[in-house]
Amino acid sequence: MTWWRDAVVYQIYPRSFRDSDGDGVGDLEGVRSQLDYLVWLGVDTLWLSPIYPSPMRDFGYDVADYTDVDQLFGSLEQFDQLVYDAHAKGLRILLDWVPNHTSDEHPWFSQSRASRDNQRRSWYVWRDAREDGSPPNNWVSAWKGESAWTWEGDTEQYYLHCFLESQPDLNWANVDVREAMHDTLRFWLDRGVDGFRMDVVHLLGKDLDVDDPDDLRALSHVPLNDVPVTHQYLRGIRSVLDEYGGERLSVGEVYLLDPHRVAAYYGDGDELHLSFNFASLYTPWDSLAWRQLIATTEAAMNGVGAWPTWVMSNHDNVRVATRLGGDGRRVRAAMTLLLTLRGTPFIYAGEELGLPDAYIPPDRAVDPGGRDGCRSPIPWSPGELHGWPATPWLPFVEGASRFSVETQRGDPTSILNFTRTLLDLRRGDDALRRGDVDDLEASEGLLRFIRRFDGRRVMVLVNFSMAPREVDIVGRLLLSSEAGGRVGRVAPGEAQIVELS
Ligand code: GLC
Repeated sequence: MTWWRDAVVYQIYPRSFRDSDGDGVGDLEGVRSQLDYLVWLGVDTLWLSPIYPSPMRDFGYDVADYTDVDQLFGSLEQFDQLVYDAHAKGLRILLDWVPNHTSDEHPWFSQSRASRDNQRRSWYVWRDAREDGSPPNNWVSAWKGESAWTWEGDTEQYYLHCFLESQPDLNWANVDVREAMHDTLRFWLDRGVDGFRMDVVHLLGKDLDVDDPDDLRALSHVPLNDVPVTHQYLRGIRSVLDEYGGERLSVGEVYLLDPHRVAAYYGDGDELHLSFNFASLYTPWDSLAWRQLIATTEAAMNGVGAWPTWVMSNHDNVRVATRLGGDGRRVRAAMTLLLTLRGTPFIYAGEELGLPDAYIPPDRAVDPGGRDGCRSPIPWSPGELHGWPATPWLPFVEGASRFSVETQRGDPTSILNFTRTLLDLRRGDDALRRGDVDDLEASEGLLRFIRRFDGRRVMVLVNFSMAPREVDIVGRLLLSSEAGGRVGRVAPGEAQIVELS
């Protein structure tokens, strides 16, 4: 049993988590100051969104140096201290590794763009124009729907960027690129990190010879780039992790919405250890839709012996409280699903507070992808600045005091305390962590499944409907998302965990 199958990963977006030095941007010392909170909550693995030096056009996903810390976040020494303290408290640390593209301010790109015969020219993807001067193909980059190619007048070629024009794609077909990127992994592995979340890894291989596709909606380059050679690159990456004894984790961001295609990225147990499965973010709050998603995921992952992951939101998507709406009932039910489905759950910081997206007035908007709302700062306490020493870089959510950690810690009925209880239950229950999924059913708005382990059967029931549902079961209620829950009747919106007799 490898540790990540039992882990609960907590995603920290460092800019928005906790500010220690009063510049309005969260930092590593801020994270370190809250390790006890995270231990109290009951998560065990922290994933930090990028902390590397960066011009921050994509808020750190545009890396200018893979082997240092941006001064905004602190220093390498502070990072080492964070890892040391986290480990001492039983927490693991994952970094966010961005292998598909660098910033245009990375020295590699400065060299690459300098001349056609620079030794780093082929570290990026350069192509001639078509005869009429247009880009080599019709791919569009993320967010703005513009061409994924930018013309460089000096050397008269286009370079490829799946995201911003300031995020040129690395050329993974070049073995020198692969080796240089492997070394960036070793740099952090040597410093003791427990693994990496790997940004858009399904894009590493590029098939530039395919004909122009007709369908060019946002991110339509994704299906184009789900190409076989990526798996070879992933095996190379995996072997670097394996040099460290098999306990260092890779979690890939594979933004393909079909769980069967995602499962392919686990390879033969020799590619990613885990991959995100983002279909949940696009699944409506409906019992039949969730039954279908769980069934498909189970079939896809079991088919190749892969371990699933579950996610309800992250720094790129609308927060779960906003997506589902309502008075917190649905958030509690969603947290119950997240923490009782078979697989490694990922909690996005603030989700444990039921935090919604913030309203961002147009003059405060900063993200080119329009994702500011879900990156609003964590409110730590009531009062004006909510525990921040200065006005943070993005506005707080409305009613931040009510959502704050301090307010919710003191309220036994809060979403925070509910999440903590759920995490505690999960930690002590082999069936919830490791059990098979059986008897998955949905009818009349009620979803249910059994986690079975070693003769024990734990049933999870979620009522997606507005009416109470009677169920003919006998057992002991381990947890309900609503006050007054009882076995045999699931209230509107309620989620229950029942140990069957
Ligand atoms: C991933 C990240 C996102 C980033 C993009 C480009 O999808 O999660 O935040 O903008 O990759 O690096």
